[in-house]
Amino acid sequence: MELQHSISLKPYNTLSLDVKAAYFVRVNCIADLRAARQFCQDKHCPWLLLGGGSNLVLTQDFDGLVMFMAMDQVFWPAEKSLDRISKNFIVSVQAGYEWDLLVEESIMRGASGLENLSLIPGQVGAAPIQNIGAYGVELKHCLGGVQVFDFDTGEEFELSSADCEFGYRDSVFKRHQCWIITQVRLLLSRDTEPKVSYGIIEDTITSQLGKPAISASPQQVRDAVIHIRRSKLPDPKKIPNVGSFFKNPMVSNGQKQALAQQWPGLVTYAVDPKKHKLAAGWLIDQLGWKGFRQGEVGVHEYQALVLVCSGSATGKEVLDLAKRIKADVAVKFGVTLEIEPRLFDNRGEFYL
Ligand code: EPU
Repeated sequence: MELQHSISLKPYNTLSLDVKAAYFVRVNCIADLRAARQFCQDKHCPWLLLGGGSNLVLTQDFDGLVMFMAMDQVFWPAEKSLDRISKNFIVSVQAGYEWDLLVEESIMRGASGLENLSLIPGQVGAAPIQNIGAYGVELKHCLGGVQVFDFDTGEEFELSSADCEFGYRDSVFKRHQCWIITQVRLLLSRDTEPKVSYGIIEDTITSQLGKPAISASPQQVRDAVIHIRRSKLPDPKKIPNVGSFFKNPMVSNGQKQALAQQWPGLVTYAVDPKKHKLAAGWLIDQLGWKGFRQGEVGVHEYQALVLVCSGSATGKEVLDLAKRIKADVAVKFGVTLEIEPRLFDNRGEFYL
């Protein structure tokens, strides 16, 4: 492995936070991971694996080894191996491959399943950690298995989709931080009905195509998702951000009813007969935060769930704003917002 010293992480995180890594290495293969593990053991230093850097807030220089996941091979099924009768299309992808490139290529090869997850920034290996989800589809709906390297023990093993314990923006990987995802197996299909029940998707496709959304091709669903995301969410390459900064909070039936009485227009999604998610963006928006600016940080002008930076902000400034919003929502709605991106200081992950 090729070790570098005192490297700025600004190009490696989508908030563009300028902190330094004491040591930095690109991981091109499992042998690099093994060498990095040995290095950290010898030095007794902490480590951090970066993918696209699109779901983390770096608040300090990191006193250890930062590894950039660069394993990026894709194992497409050979045309002749595709079973003409079965609709299955299985693809294995190494963790460092860019997520949206995979979505684009899978559609070009005639496979559906990922189109609703178009344009999500980041790498394939990060997708299972938060069980990425958008417009009615979550990664868990098409994940077959995950290969893992345990940075504590050096063991390699495979987890099934059930082993991943997927939940809303949650998985087993949030509870086992030493598990590094090296490869993901996706179960796609060559012939499925499009998933277009999410209101804005259905409306966009119907108005763009002039025909029922259910007849849309995977490419047409992708085009609609890209259109919606571009109109609502800032491009991290132009305006630094990590997408949704908070999770949509879960409340009971009773809480939902009490809030809806007090706040007509409250946006909710039923999770099961007893639980509902509240649209956190709506809550924050009602309190007037949308478009707010203070120094180098602010709240996006079209989606209040997204915090944005100028490019020279610090992680502390971002977190201070998040804390103010969290406190305001707690006082006005009696609801606790949970921060979605992972937070890191000089030694590793921490929680608010
Ligand atoms: N809303 C407002 N004001 C706002 C933002 C939203 O009133 O500033 C209202 C909207 O009008 C809409 C509702 O809230 O009625 C929901 O908004 P949206 O469809 O944008 O979805 P969301 O619940 O805010 C979640 C994900 C997004 C994902 C969308 C679409 C979370 C934390 N976020 O947002 O994920 O793209 O659904 O499926 O679950 C991300 O993770 O970075 C991300 C963007």
